[in-house]
Amino acid sequence: MAGSVRDLPAPWRDEPYLVMCHGRSTVAVAWHDDDALVVLLEGSGRDPGVIGVGDADAVGRLLDGAVTALGPARWATLPRGSWEAAADGTRAAFPGWEAANSWDCMWTDRPLVGISDHAVERLPAGVERVDAEIAEALDRAHPTASTRPGDPRLEGWWAVREEGRLVAVVGAIRFAPGLAPHLVSLGVDPAHRGRGLAGAVLAAAVSDGLLAPTLVGPPMVGLGLYAANDVARQVYVRHGFVLGHRFDSRPAHRD
Ligand SMILES: CC(C)(COP(=O)(O)OP(=O)(O)OC[C@H]1O[C@@H](n2cnc3c(N)ncnc32)[C@H](O)[C@@H]1OP(=O)(O)O)[C@@H](O)C(=O)NCCC(=O)NCCS
Repeated sequence: MAGSVRDLPAPWRDEPYLVMCHGRSTVAVAWHDDDALVVLLEGSGRDPGVIGVGDADAVGRLLDGAVTALGPARWATLPRGSWEAAADGTRAAFPGWEAANSWDCMWTDRPLVGISDHAVERLPAGVERVDAEIAEALDRAHPTASTRPGDPRLEGWWAVREEGRLVAVVGAIRFAPGLAPHLVSLGVDPAHRGRGLAGAVLAAAVSDGLLAPTLVGPPMVGLGLYAANDVARQVYVRHGFVLGHRFDSRPAHRD
C-alpha cells in the first residue's frame, strides 16, 4: 500500500502503539481482518520489519498468509504467542528468530493518579553539566538503562533532588519528530525506593508530555518495559498507565 499508519483502515489507523512509535514510518504492505493487523514497515530509521497487533492467534494466521511478502523483514514485533501460533513453515522462513525479547507497551492519554507530593525538577537534554549529573544518577538508580544522556532523541529529564543529589529520574524521547513522547530510563536510587518518587517524576513527565504538540495522533505519552519487571509494571499501572500490548521482539538482542 505504501502509505502511513494513518492510511490504514479503522480501527488500526488509530492504534496507539502504531501511531505513537511508528506514525512517521512507511507501511509497505498491510494484512488485516477484524481481529488483527500485520504490517511490513520501512523508513523508521532502521531496517524493514514486521509489526503485528491484535489477537495473537489471528496475527499468527495473518503471518502465514503474508510470509512470502515478508522476505525483506529483518525484525518482528508481535503480540506474545503469535509466533508460536504461526505455522512451522512460517517460522522456518526466519532462521535465528526463535529467541525473543518480551516487553510490554504502555501509554496514557491523561494525567497520572495517586501521586505523592515531591518537588520535581525539569532538566534539559544535551547540556554537558546536566548530562553528567543524570549519568551519575542512573549509575546508582538504573545502571542498565538503555537510553543514556547524549542520545540525540532525548527531549528532557524530570528528576527529584535530595540533599543536592538526583535520587529519581526519567527521560523522554520521540521516535521521530512530531510523534508523542516516549518515557525512558526511569530509575530511583535504591536507598530511596518505596517512597513514591517514581510516580512523582512520571507524573511531571506525563503532564508536560500531554501538553507537547504532536503532528501525528492525539496527545499521548508511551513507554516500554521488559516483561519481567513486575515492580515497574505495578508502578505504571497504579498511576494510570494502560497496559496496551504484551510484545515479543525478534531477533532478540544478545548484548
Ligand atoms: C521501578 C522503580 C522505578 C520504582 O520506583 P519507586 O520510587 O521505588 O516506586 P514506588 O515508591 O511506587 O514503589 C514501588 C514498589 O517498590 C517496592 N519497594 C518498596 N520499598 C522498596 C525498597 N526499599 N527497595 C526496593 N523496592 C521497594 C514495593 O514493591 C513498592 O510497591 P508498593 O507501593 O506496593 O509497596 C524502582 O524500583 C527502580 O528504579 N528500579 C530499577 C530500575 C527500573 O526497573 N526502572 C524501570 C524500567 S521500565
